[in-house]
Amino acid sequence: MHEAVTESYQIVSREAAKQGSLIAALNQIQAEFNYLPSEALVLASEWLDVPLSQAFSVATFYNAFTLQPKGKHCLSVCMGTACHVRGSPRLMDSLATSLGIGAGETTGDKLFTLETVNCLGACALGPIVVTDGDYSGQMTLAKVDRLLKRLLKMEAREPHG
Ligand code: FES
Repeated sequence: MHEAVTESYQIVSREAAKQGSLIAALNQIQAEFNYLPSEALVLASEWLDVPLSQAFSVATFYNAFTLQPKGKHCLSVCMGTACHVRGSPRLMDSLATSLGIGAGETTGDKLFTLETVNCLGACALGPIVVTDGDYSGQMTLAKVDRLLKRLLKMEAREPHG
């Protein structure tokens, strides 16, 4: 593993463990790296003196944690029934084409992760797209296009085809 990466895992894991709570430590690691790298999880369990199996159980139990690297921006399209009938598959296709990735994937530059989610409980506002935790309702292809262009502009990146 790259030395600087190992060092950052060590620093973050040590700082996170100072709080003494496994969940708080995992939260801090997730906030720092956008996911829970297994190396950081090992280090945190050592610093907190909790079994690694327990750290992995907690990491996989809570939806807020992910063991897979995610992009800087996470776009989630609701595929619940109400959003589906209002056109969310078309929104998903549009995002997938623009970003060049499919659902559950992350762009090579680690800027974007595209996901589908089940009903978010706000069906009246569907179709819904969640961008970095912010809900946008009554989405259309034009709105999704604008949303993505704004993010791409922010990141100084051009859309694929
Ligand atoms: S189906 Fe999308 S919020 Fe319910």
